[in-house]
Amino acid sequence: IDGTLEGAERVRAIVQDLRRFSSSQREGLEVFDVTRTIRTAVDWVVRAERVKPVVVFDMPDELDACARKGHLHQVIVNLVHNAADVLQNRPEPRIEISCRREGEDVVIKVRDNGTGIPQTHMDQIFEPFFTTKPIGQGTGLGLYVSYGLMKEQGGDLAAANHPEGGAVFTVRLPANPG
Ligand SMILES: Nc1ncnc2c1ncn2[C@@H]1O[C@H](COP(=O)(O)OP(=O)(O)OP(=O)(O)O)[C@@H](O)[C@H]1O
Ligand SMILES: [Mg+2]
Repeated sequence: IDGTLEGAERVRAIVQDLRRFSSSQREGLEVFDVTRTIRTAVDWVVRAERVKPVVVFDMPDELDACARKGHLHQVIVNLVHNAADVLQNRPEPRIEISCRREGEDVVIKVRDNGTGIPQTHMDQIFEPFFTTKPIGQGTGLGLYVSYGLMKEQGGDLAAANHPEGGAVFTVRLPANPG
């Protein structure tokens, strides 16, 4: 019975998440200001947090790219959500977000000062349903879906730990894919 209940709880969480992830599947390319999309996405997540982390931006006033705006928005929401989760009950919670042009790409970094990612988990975090969160709080789909959304538009998503602690996620997006 315990196993069944646990399964049911997971299914409930998965269905909720699929609703969150299934928006605008067929989105096309458009030219938009990436920094604005980042600010909106961050605002969405932070607004809903009980304990609000300090968010520091390091980006130009405007940086245009030709990409899938809704998908990028979703990726940033997922990354900031993860950062906010790991920062719960941490001292001086802080998220740093940078965005700059590097050659043909727009590179966005989302860094937190949380626990970082254990080396043993590095290979697993992008797998579907890999989660270290309690039932009902995480389904392990956020990074899997985000990775897929970036690859689909010729970009990339990678994880690392910062030498001074915490995790850093790097989003790479072709600024003008022909
Ligand atoms: N910023 C981070 N710092 C430390 N660990 C992280 C961070 N982001 C992700 N992780 C680890 O990677 C796992 C997978 O993340 P992912 O976003 O795919 O799923 P989730 O957050 O657990 O659930 P979901 O996103 O579906 O609600 C997390 O459970 C956590 O263990
Ligand atoms: Mg997540």
